[in-house]
Formats: sequence, C-alpha cells, structure tokens
Amino acid sequence: MHALSVHDLHHQFGRTPEVLRGVTMEIEAGTMTAIMGPSGSGKSTLLNCMSGLVRPTSGRILYRGEDLAQLSQRRLDRLRRTSWGFIFQSYNLIDALTALDNVLLPALFEGNRMTDAVASEALLRVGLSGFERRYPDQLSGGQRQRVAIARALATRRDIVFADEPTGALDSTSRKEVMQNVHALPAMGSTVVLVTHDPTVAVAAARVVFLYDGRIVGDESGLSSRQISERLVDLEARPC
Ligand SMILES: Nc1ncnc2c1ncn2[C@@H]1O[C@H](COP(=O)(O)OP(=O)(O)OP(=O)(O)O)[C@@H](O)[C@H]1O
Ligand SMILES: [Mg+2]
Repeated sequence: MHALSVHDLHHQFGRTPEVLRGVTMEIEAGTMTAIMGPSGSGKSTLLNCMSGLVRPTSGRILYRGEDLAQLSQRRLDRLRRTSWGFIFQSYNLIDALTALDNVLLPALFEGNRMTDAVASEALLRVGLSGFERRYPDQLSGGQRQRVAIARALATRRDIVFADEPTGALDSTSRKEVMQNVHALPAMGSTVVLVTHDPTVAVAAARVVFLYDGRIVGDESGLSSRQISERLVDLEARPC
C-alpha cells in the first residue's frame, strides 16, 4: 500500500510561473524518502501540497488511497493533528507554552493520553533534558527546532513530513536528531524529508531530485558523495 501518491501535480502561486510542473511519485509506507534540489526548485511547495497545507492548482494527492481534495476540512485537520507529524523550518512552537507542554500539545488535542514522562523522554532523545520548563524565547533556534522534533517523535505518526529538520543544528545535534528520524521507518512511520544535506539524505532509502518544479532523478542507494555530485550538477544547470 502506498502511504502517499501524487499524480501530475501542478502548482502556481497567483500569476507567477508554475512552481510545480507535473510531479508524479509514489511513496511506500514505512520508508524514508529525501527530496533534494536547488533553492527555489519547489521542494517545500511539494511537501506542503502533500501534507494538505497548500491546495495544488491541479493534480491529485492520495493518502492511503484517499484523495485529499475529497476530504472534508474537518477530516483533514484531524489527520494533520493525529496521524501526521510535522518538522518544519518555522518550528511552529507556541510561545506561551514550555518546551514540555509544546511536546504534549498534540496529545492534548487527542484527549491527553501522553504523560509528562513520555514527553520528557522525547526531549531527552533530542538532547534537551533539563530544558522542559523553558519557553521558546528562552531557547536558541536549534533548541527550538529540537523541541519541534521531539514533539513529532513523541507520538507515533503514520507520516512525518520534515522540511530541513537539521537546518539550524550543529553537527552533534544533527547526528542526535537524525538518529531519531532514521529510527522512524522501523517503527512503522513513513518519512518524507526535504534536505540540502547529503549526509542527512544518505540515510533515506530513496532520493528524489527536483529541478524547476519537475522530478529529474529518483534513485536508491546513492552514497553521500554521489548525492553531492548530483546536487552540484543541478545547481550548475541554467534555468
Ligand atoms: N507563497 C508564495 N507566493 C509566491 N511564490 C512563492 C510562495 N512560496 C514559494 N514561492 C516561490 O515558489 C518557488 C519554489 O519555492 P519553494 O519554497 O517550494 O522552494 P524550495 O525548493 O523549498 O527552496 P529552498 O531550498 O530555498 O527552501 C520559489 O521561486 C518561491 O519564490
Ligand atoms: Mg524550502
């Protein structure tokens, strides 16, 4: 069963040229797929369409066979709150809540089944033990990002969408976080990850390369060196 399939996706913001120009791909459940490509190639837009944040201009997105466009807003909101996890560039933390409560928040929506101990354990896994009572404005950018990651890791999610999850992290935190993200497929989650970092992408079973809104490569088993070479090639292409 495909966790996600995307058919002939096109997207255009207003009157600008198309940002996605016919993207078709299928993502097997329980796998990790990295999406890579030059800045502006449409990676975040593709991820935002797949996760129901942006409605594409045309094309279809199926989540476990169900067309996202046919789902009620209520059902989509529920999926996004309870079945999907998000690790985004903008963190999406609530400023008025502590780190611990930010991790607990999705569980609160579901009826408060997560204990403080589970949330603390998730913070420990991303190297933030002792930071439970801090508010987002008392944390560095990288620490905030790790709280967002702990939140996505604390409850099992059917799909985790990650956009540059290690963008603001130093190499030690990056390793810790990626160990956790890499463990997700073994626990049954599907991971779709946008990254510029070949050392992060190499752990994905599959790397999809985007260029100017189109898929220009879809490969498995590349080394980080091969991934870097592909990226350098794409970045050197004329638009
Ligand atoms: N809300 C928006 N309105 C208009 N144009 C947008 C909007 N969001 C993105 N774009 C444009 O769409 C194109 C693709 O953007 P997108 O954010 O998907 O790129 P990306 O591959 O994620 O880049 P980066 O690696 O820099 O994050 C860019 O040219 C961008 O300027
Ligand atoms: Mg982006």
